[in-house]
Amino acid sequence: MPLLELKGVSAGYTGASVLNKITLSLDAGEIATLVGSNGAGKSTIAKLVSGILTPMQGEVIFDGKSVKGLSASDRLRLGIAHVPEGRQIFGGMTVLENLRLGAYSVPSRLSMDIESQLAFVCMFFPVLKDRLGDVAGNFSGGQQQMLAIARGLMSRPRLLILDEPSLGVAPLLVNEIFQLIQRLRGEGITILLAEQNARQALSIADRGYVIENGQMVMEGAAAALAGSADIAERYLGIGTSIGANEDKDARMARELLRIVA
Ligand SMILES: Nc1ncnc2c1ncn2[C@@H]1O[C@H](COP(=O)(O)OP(=O)(O)OP(=O)(O)O)[C@@H](O)[C@H]1O
Ligand SMILES: [Mg+2]
Repeated sequence: MPLLELKGVSAGYTGASVLNKITLSLDAGEIATLVGSNGAGKSTIAKLVSGILTPMQGEVIFDGKSVKGLSASDRLRLGIAHVPEGRQIFGGMTVLENLRLGAYSVPSRLSMDIESQLAFVCMFFPVLKDRLGDVAGNFSGGQQQMLAIARGLMSRPRLLILDEPSLGVAPLLVNEIFQLIQRLRGEGITILLAEQNARQALSIADRGYVIENGQMVMEGAAAALAGSADIAERYLGIGTSIGANEDKDARMARELLRIVA
């Protein structure tokens, strides 16, 4: 049974319809990535799952049950944690204070206490462990992103939604963050990853969903999507030219993707 399903979900913001009948399914223990360009609707999907936004139509199902009517904090208690785009950490607070906030509304669901969850999280983020008392606002973009993910993990989620974790992060740390996401899957955490960085996202994901203008235009095994010339051209920054060179370029794109994947 999938851990998360969206069935024909449409949504929008006051006056503007954004998503049109999105259907997706994510099995427990997998990473699914939502890829697509600026404004495609990735973050909107993330918000629908975590309960920040309510669908106009369709259903969000978590662990076999509709989450209709459940608030974001209800869903956090069920095990859905959302690490929002732009991190939104509290810059004036310490690392430890930020982390504790992540566990704020959920202790009743946890069999382990906050201190052991903190120890678990610190194991994944040694850089944070050494700086628990530091003010978070002084951290680099990448370190703040790690803190945001760590804060999300403090609720001991079953589903972790990561919205653009690579945004505003230096390239070296981006690799580290993607490796870390894979390790979290290794811990049995199911991950929904929204990313403009389609290449890296598809290289670590099991399934991929391509969103364009609020529509799901393609879906499939992440490796297959990464190998598709169409995807390469549109989302991986590898252009195919017209005419006779087209096949050659597509081939080159596939070669390149095999190397980077
Ligand atoms: N709070 C809002 N109010 C009104 N419109 C919004 C709001 N948030 C997003 N939108 C619009 O909804 C559409 C989808 O936005 P969304 O943030 O889901 O895209 P995205 O795929 O996450 O893009 P990005 O890669 O830039 O983060 C865009 O046209 C955007 O302008
Ligand atoms: Mg977004």
